[in-house]
Amino acid sequence: MATYETIKQKLETNKQEQLLHFYEQLNEEEQRDLLNQIEQIDFDQLETANQKDEENARITALPSHTTEMFSPEELTKMREHGCSLIADGKVAIVLLAGGQGTRLGHDGPKGTVNMDGSPETSLFALQAKRIQALQHEMNTTLPWYIMTSPINDDATKAFFHDNQYFGLNRDQVTFFQQEVSPALTPDGKVMLADKATVFQAPNGNGGVFVSMQKAGILAKLQSTNIKWIFFNNIDNALVQVADPLFIGYADQQGADISSKSVKKAEPGEKVGVLGQRNGKPSVIEYSELTEEQRQQPELQDANIGIHLFKVDFLEQTANRVLPYHFAHKKIATIDEQGVAVHPAEPNGYKLEKFYFDVFPYASKMSIFQVDRANEFLPVKNKTGKDSLEEAKERFN
Ligand code: UD1
Repeated sequence: MATYETIKQKLETNKQEQLLHFYEQLNEEEQRDLLNQIEQIDFDQLETANQKDEENARITALPSHTTEMFSPEELTKMREHGCSLIADGKVAIVLLAGGQGTRLGHDGPKGTVNMDGSPETSLFALQAKRIQALQHEMNTTLPWYIMTSPINDDATKAFFHDNQYFGLNRDQVTFFQQEVSPALTPDGKVMLADKATVFQAPNGNGGVFVSMQKAGILAKLQSTNIKWIFFNNIDNALVQVADPLFIGYADQQGADISSKSVKKAEPGEKVGVLGQRNGKPSVIEYSELTEEQRQQPELQDANIGIHLFKVDFLEQTANRVLPYHFAHKKIATIDEQGVAVHPAEPNGYKLEKFYFDVFPYASKMSIFQVDRANEFLPVKNKTGKDSLEEAKERFN
């Protein structure tokens, strides 16, 4: 149990005394609660956020495979191999679903957004149905792990419960929560949401591995001889969850990571690209590429958030401390008088981890470039490009 003295000391050491500025005005319960919140903050980790992203990194391409590079017989064999791995219980699925649908103007978890007004066409349902079809074909059960966050965990579970798990067996679906991280002012001070509460938000999708480990999921997967984890985002309305062809491909390649890509629609498309940073497998985010690099013909493999990880690789890397990335955001906070502030412009930085910061630890990554029209329809915005509007047109 944290005492006022130890916390005060911790804050002095880290130059974060502002967090106790209103302490004397709180009631006993609020005081205890605030001390506990501060105790949870790992200030050493926040230090990594202050290190600038490596500049002048050497960005190079990683050649990808396309289906045209394989004969029809090879492709059939690859798919059959993937099917046998699924049937033998060697594959589990992890879905990243920690975010809200705020950008879509939707109040609730992003996976509950639907195409025609019915939960049966929600992003969650589309993926569940795909899993069900595979299970039917392979006469097996695919374990499905869904990462939520404290902001959407209850709503996500309720959605699955209310819709009878979309026909899946409820025992095959496991929810686990990612952690939260604080936000910083431009001069590195941890922000308060109100006098008694440290501002906290989901810690980015890179929190997934530590959370899987803490929930005992990685150990369980290892002990049940699962070899591959199929990993995907919630917002791709066309994702072919646990695609047997891709699984067969990954297993034949034998790399720690295999990633699906699509060719960028145009050099300026705002996606991360799959490639190498200083000779190591990486996703290089749009913002990290120079204009010249964005144009390079060999740096056109867009990251669409679909990967296969060897369980052994994740088990070895889950303990690595991944760096925080800064996201400049509008953060509801309080001023020095304790008055609520709802800024019109970004006033601080949310700290987010990215799952692909484990990629450089992989000995090898293989890339399988697939057809965008069949496999990538991201629902990022309300209208326009990559939008819910676009996805609805496609489905209706
Ligand atoms: C992401 C990729 C980008 C890729 C693009 C393709 C990252 C950091 N970047 O960008 O390289 O080109 O998808 O669509 O992944 N999520 C959580 N918890 C969080 C934050 C996000 O679970 O705290 C989940 C989201 O629900 C989503 C996925 O992670 O399923 C991707 O996150 P999102 O914020 O949508 O990433 P993008 O910026 O679109």
